[in-house]
Amino acid sequence: MKNRKDYFNASAVTWDQRYQNRALADFIGQLVPTFNLKPGQRVLDVGTGTGILIPYLLKAVGSTGHVTAVDYAEKMVEICKAKYANIPNVSVALQQAENLDFYPESFDAVTCFGLFPHLEDKEAALKQLNRVLKPGGKLIIAHALSSEEIKAHHRNASVVAQDTLPSEAEMRRLLKQAGFIGIKITDEPGCYVCLSTKPQA
Ligand SMILES: C[S@@+](CC[C@H](N)C(=O)[O-])C[C@H]1O[C@@H](n2cnc3c(N)ncnc32)[C@H](O)[C@@H]1O
Repeated sequence: MKNRKDYFNASAVTWDQRYQNRALADFIGQLVPTFNLKPGQRVLDVGTGTGILIPYLLKAVGSTGHVTAVDYAEKMVEICKAKYANIPNVSVALQQAENLDFYPESFDAVTCFGLFPHLEDKEAALKQLNRVLKPGGKLIIAHALSSEEIKAHHRNASVVAQDTLPSEAEMRRLLKQAGFIGIKITDEPGCYVCLSTKPQA
């Protein structure tokens, strides 16, 4: 495998088989309500993969809200598009986190579920996530594993073997540098959640 994108493209066809299970569904079902999303809000899911998070985000924002889902792996986007083709308030696009093609201040919240360790340029990606969030908008970085468990999970996984979450101090530094405030990090067995906010103008 040459690079991460090839790795995710090759993983796309079996992704739902591997990860769409009751335990993860229960975890996400309990996690998403803690994001405190409101009906009518616009949410961007970055690194959406096959869109495992989308139904839960949709439930939170309701029929008046909108979920936009992006991923840089063509195969992931193809599968995700097919799954959500008939849902009017979901759009799926091929985009890279480090170079997002949205107007500034487009979203009330950005979610990154299982994405952050894989970002090749975390500073550039966070700058983009801040740019597309509305003032007061939330950035939610989450995993169904702790940072230590992620290391073990990736250890034998080809080109992503070195992909880890930054230390708490480094994560805070990166987020502050990108303009985020109110950083709260939970890192415990079976759960990593990092919440932060773009300041009000
Ligand atoms: C571990 S998977 C998680 C997928 C999905 N969120 C889930 O939980 O099932 C990481 C995803 O992020 C995507 N990804 C990695 N780096 C990216 C980047 N720089 N920009 C956009 N997507 C990226 C991969 O293609 C992959 O689909």
